[in-house]
Order: sequence, then C-alpha cells, then structure tokens
Amino acid sequence: MRTPKTNVGVLVKMALQLGFARVFFAIFLVASLATAHNAKTFNVRNYGAVADGRKDNRKAFLKAWSDACNQKGISRVYIPGGVYMLGTVEFLGPCKGPITFLMTGTVRAPTGPLSTDGWITFRYVNKLIVKGGGTLDGQGASAWPYNECDKNSNCRSLPISIKFEFVTNSRIKYITSINSKNGHLSFFACKNVNVTNIELSAPGDSPNTDGIKIGSSRDIRISSSRISTGDDCIAILAGSTNIDISYVYCGPGHGISVGSLGKFPDEDDVKGLVVRRSTFNGTDNGVRIKTWESPWRSTASNFTFEDIFMEKVRNPIIVDQAYCPHPPCNQQTASHVQIKDVTYRNIWGTSSSQIAVSIDCSKQFPCKNIVMKDINLAHLGREGPLKSHCSYVDGHFYGRQNPPSCF
Ligand SMILES: *[C@@H]1O[C@H](CO)[C@@H](O)[C@H](O)[C@H]1NC(C)=O
Ligand SMILES: *[C@@H]1O[C@H](CO)[C@@H](O)[C@H](O)[C@H]1NC(C)=O
Ligand SMILES: *[C@@H]1O[C@H](CO)[C@@H](O)[C@H](O)[C@H]1NC(C)=O
Repeated sequence: MRTPKTNVGVLVKMALQLGFARVFFAIFLVASLATAHNAKTFNVRNYGAVADGRKDNRKAFLKAWSDACNQKGISRVYIPGGVYMLGTVEFLGPCKGPITFLMTGTVRAPTGPLSTDGWITFRYVNKLIVKGGGTLDGQGASAWPYNECDKNSNCRSLPISIKFEFVTNSRIKYITSINSKNGHLSFFACKNVNVTNIELSAPGDSPNTDGIKIGSSRDIRISSSRISTGDDCIAILAGSTNIDISYVYCGPGHGISVGSLGKFPDEDDVKGLVVRRSTFNGTDNGVRIKTWESPWRSTASNFTFEDIFMEKVRNPIIVDQAYCPHPPCNQQTASHVQIKDVTYRNIWGTSSSQIAVSIDCSKQFPCKNIVMKDINLAHLGREGPLKSHCSYVDGHFYGRQNPPSCF
C-alpha cells in the first residue's frame, strides 16, 4: 500500500500533540497559577466542598459559581485535587466578566439515571474557559441499564455529562470525561467555542455515549482530542454552521457523523463542515452523513473531509439517506434532505467490510456535486477487492480511487 509522506506527517504530528499534551499542560498550569495576578479565585473548598467522593457538593459549587459570576473583572472557580461528588447543577450567566472553571480534581456524578437531561450545564455564559486537567466521571455503568432507546423511540434520555447552551467566545481544554451516562459533551446555541486537548472515554458497547454533540451552533472548533466511546465520536446536528474538526482520534465509536437529519420538521440547515487530519481506529463508520426518510426538508452542504486515516473501519465513507437504526421506521417517503457540495480528499487506510465507500442518496433529492480525490483504502477481509456503492449521486472523481469509483 502506498503511504504518501504527508500521511506519515499527520500521524507523527497527532502522536506528538496527544502524547505531550499532559507535559505541556503541567508546565502551563504551573505558569498560569504563578501569574494569576489579575484573576480573583473562588475555591470551592472555601465554600464547604468536601473531596470525600460522597458528600453532594452542589451547594458549595453553585455558591462559588455565583460569587465568581457576580465579580467584576476576571474570575475563576477553582476545584482543587480530590474527588468531589456533585449532583445535577446549572451554572448560569450572564456573568459580570470573563470566567474560568479551573478543575484539577475529579468531579463525580451520583449513580443511577438522574431525572434531568444534563448533569452539569453552563448556560448564557460569554468568555467561559473550562480547563485544568481534571476529570468528569459520569458513573455511566450505573445508568446504562436504564437506557431503553433501542426498544422505545420515545425513551427518556439519560443526562449528558456537560452541556453548553448559549455559550459564546469560549474555550474548553485539558479536560477528561469518562463513562458519561449519555453523551459526554453537547453544544446548543453556542458560538465561537474552541475545544482542544480533551479526552472522552466510555466502553465501545456503552449505549448512546456520543462524544460531542453540536446543534444550532456556529464557529465551533475541535482539535487535538481523543474520543473513545460507544456512539458517535462527534455528531453534527441540525443548525450547525462552520464547524472545524482537526487532529481528532476516534475509536472505538461510530465515527464522525452529520445527523441524523430530517427526523423533525423545521430543522435548520447544516453548512460548512471541515474534518481534517484525523484518525479513525476500529470504528463502525469513518465519516458519515445520515438522514431519515421523511418529508422534512433541509440542506446539508459545503463539507470537506480531508487527510484522514482509517484503520479497520467498517464503513469508512458513508452517506445513508435511508437511516433507520432500529427498524421498522415510519418511511413514508424518500429523504427530503438535500446533500450537496461534499468533498472527500486524501483518505487512506483499511476497511473491515467490502463496501468501503457507500453513497446512498435520496431518490427525490439526489446528492449534488460530490467530489472524491485520492481515496486509497485496502480491504482486511477475505471477500475480495473493495467495492463502492452509489445511488442517486451526481459527482466527480480525481486521482487514485481504491475502491474504484461508482460515479
Ligand atoms: C478559536 O480559534 C480561532 C482560530 O484559531 C480564533 O480565531 C478564535 O479567536 C478562537 N476563539 C476563542 C474563543 O478563543
Ligand atoms: C464553506 O465552508 C467553509 C468552512 O466552514 C467556509 O469557510 C466557506 O465560507 C464556506 N463556503 C460557502 C460558499 O459557504
Ligand atoms: C488502533 O488500535 C489498536 C488496538 O487498540 C492499536 O494496537 C493500534 O496501534 C491503533 N492504531 C492507531 C493508528 O492508533
């Protein structure tokens, strides 16, 4: 198999970024603690928080947050080392100045399913920084048995570990989330948020543990992060605009997905997505676009997937406009989601199934302007050479095509 030089470069750079993240962080933490002259710190311990892993610290955390939020100038909520049990909390803004949530300790959720759809929520906050090298432990194993979403489409959702709603001009970095009960992180109605050097993990067979869900948000950048989980590593949902994903490692998981789209009426379009310089390892899908068969119209356009390495991925490149995860689905009509202007460039590695490229579009709204350039995948199984599958696609291809293009 041909391995172009740039590809090796991508891997080396990713290894460096992920491997040295902690070292850089340690240096950075020491430096930032030493030079924290202008930020006022609100240490949760001074509000009665106890790091015994048992006492519910909601009151202390919420009071520290509200004092920090009402402080003029730069403020900081500080969670020192130790294990803090924390029930459901909402950290609300708007705040009087920029605010940092500096978490060096572990924050642990109560066991069981909880009664809300979020465990920790930040809402209406501008200039928020969440960082510190700490860990959020969702204690998911105690809640997953309550997930019945594979049997009941009106199932009640378990809580997402950390939700950002109406959060703007913010940064999330050097945070670990383990064993979320449902998704790890979600963004709703957010704008200009940069996520770097985070690590999300849950077992590959844990239900609905999406890594990051993005909806109704714009200018969200995710880079240099590692996601190993039981559902989509990143899901880009209706109303997402200008999303940039780079240097992400995904696996195990269900890949990086746009959608599912078209499940509800009046969904906003998804436009402007770049996924680049990323690795998928042992995932069900690589880069995927999925839409339901329904009369609900919207557009998914202007996507670029480039410089992507796949290792033992079942469906490296997939568009599925007849998405139906738990048949039977109520398929009254072909999907009304128009997919257009999607480029796949320099995607290489191995596929664990024979159909490595599957572009299955809507009969009523065929995909437009799908471009493939330099696709170089190899098959791991015994069924023979790789194949691609297309239906209702208008596209072009350039450069190497392995499997051969079906356009
Ligand atoms: C996020 O990164 C982009 C590109 O590097 C930069 O232009 C933007 O200001 C950053 N936003 C925040 C909130 O740091
Ligand atoms: C396509 O998306 C890119 C990246 O998000 C953005 O910079 C560009 O302006 C978009 N192009 C159009 C025509 O919308
Ligand atoms: C993929 O995962 C396997 C099993 O965990 C590991 O041995 C291998 O090094 C990984 N490959 C990459 C490129 O990270």
